[in-house]
Amino acid sequence: MNTTVDFLNTAVSPSECVRLANAANDAAWDALERFLQQLRGGRHARDQYSEALAAIREATGASFVFLYSKHIDGVLEVDGTIKAPTTWYREFSRTVAACLGEGGVWQPEEPTRVGTISGVGSVESAVFLPVEAPRPAYLIAVGLGEDRRLQASDFRAMRVIWRLQLAHEQHLHLYDKLRETLFGIVRCLSAAIEAKDPLTSGHSERVARIATRLGKEMKLARGEISDLYLAGLLHDVGKIGIRDDVLLKPGPLSPSEAAHMREHPALGERIIESVSRLAYLCPAIRGHHERIDGRGYPDGLAGEAIPLMARILAVADSCDAMMSDRRYRSALPREKIEAIFWDGAGSAWDARVVEAFFTCRNELYEVCSRGLGQSVYMAVERAAGGDQSHAGRPAFRVPTGAKV
Ligand SMILES: [Fe+2]
Repeated sequence: MNTTVDFLNTAVSPSECVRLANAANDAAWDALERFLQQLRGGRHARDQYSEALAAIREATGASFVFLYSKHIDGVLEVDGTIKAPTTWYREFSRTVAACLGEGGVWQPEEPTRVGTISGVGSVESAVFLPVEAPRPAYLIAVGLGEDRRLQASDFRAMRVIWRLQLAHEQHLHLYDKLRETLFGIVRCLSAAIEAKDPLTSGHSERVARIATRLGKEMKLARGEISDLYLAGLLHDVGKIGIRDDVLLKPGPLSPSEAAHMREHPALGERIIESVSRLAYLCPAIRGHHERIDGRGYPDGLAGEAIPLMARILAVADSCDAMMSDRRYRSALPREKIEAIFWDGAGSAWDARVVEAFFTCRNELYEVCSRGLGQSVYMAVERAAGGDQSHAGRPAFRVPTGAKV
C-alpha cells in the first residue's frame, strides 16, 4: 500500500514561499538561488530543462530526477548518475501517475517490483509533478535508500523551480517576439534608404561592417560592437527625408542644397527616437558627421564631446565613401585614401580611430570590394539569427562568419 500526499489544489503563493523558506534547508535554497542565476544568464529553453532538473535534484537531495514525455512515451532528460533501463522509466512513470493522479509524494511502505532498479536498489520515495514540456510530461524526483525520503516540502520545491522555468520560457518567447518586431523595423528602414538611392546600395551595410571591425580593433565590449553594427545600418536613415533632386544630384551641391543635405543626421535622429527600443542609437546617428576639431555638423561638437560610436561611424562612413564609386567621381586609390586619413587624423577624425583604420586597413579594403551590391536584408537576417543575452535592452549580434 502506498502513502500519497496530494498538493493539487495548493497554489504556490508568496506566503507559501516564506513557509518553504522556513522549512527548507540551506542546500535547497542555495539550489534555488543558483537556478535563478542560471535563468538570468541563459537563453535557450531547451538547455534550461536540464538546468531545472539539476536544480530540483540539488534542492530535494533526490538520487536522480527525470522528465518523462507522455507524448512520445519515453524519457526526455535525466539528471543524476544512476541510469535505469528505458523500460523502467516507462513502467515507473505510468505506475506513479496512476497512483498520484495530478501530483504528490509516493512512499511505498515496502519495496515494490516496479520501484526496483536492477543492480541499483529500490525506490523508497518519489515526488511526481505533471508538467507541459511543452507537451504533457511527468517530472519525477526519485529517492533511493532510507537516508533521504522525499516529502511534501520537496514537492513544493520542485513545483517552485518548474514554475520559475515556465516563467522564464514565457519571458524568452516575448523577447523573441520583440526582437522580430525590431528587426522588422530595421529591415523596413534599411530598405527605404536603399530604395531612395539605389546607386549607393550596400553602403549602410559596409559602414556597419567597417565600424564593427574598427570597434574590435579598439577593443570595445561585445555589446558596444553590436550597437555599432546596428548604428552603421541606420546611420543615414535621415536621407529618407532629403529631397530627391538634392540626394540624387550628380554634380556638386549649391550652398542651399548642401545645407538641406546636412539635415540628414538630425532627421535620422528624429526617425529613430520614435522607436523607443532603438532610441539609444540616436547620439551615434546624429553625430556621425561631426568632426574632432568642431567644424562638423549638426552641432559642431569637438573632441570627446562627440560620442565614441559617432567618431567610429565617421571614419567608417568616410572610408566606404572614398573606396566606392560616386555619381560625380570614381573610387579613390588606396594611396590617396590613406593620405587623406593621415592628414585628417586629429582634425577631421579621432586619431585613435584612424590608428585603428591603419592597423586593419587591408581587411577594410576587402569589406568594400566584397560588400558591393550585398543586400542589407541579408545582413539583418544574419544578425537576427544568433543567440544573445538580453540585458535590459535589445542586443544585436554581428553576423557570424562576417569577416569585417
Ligand atoms: Fe551620412
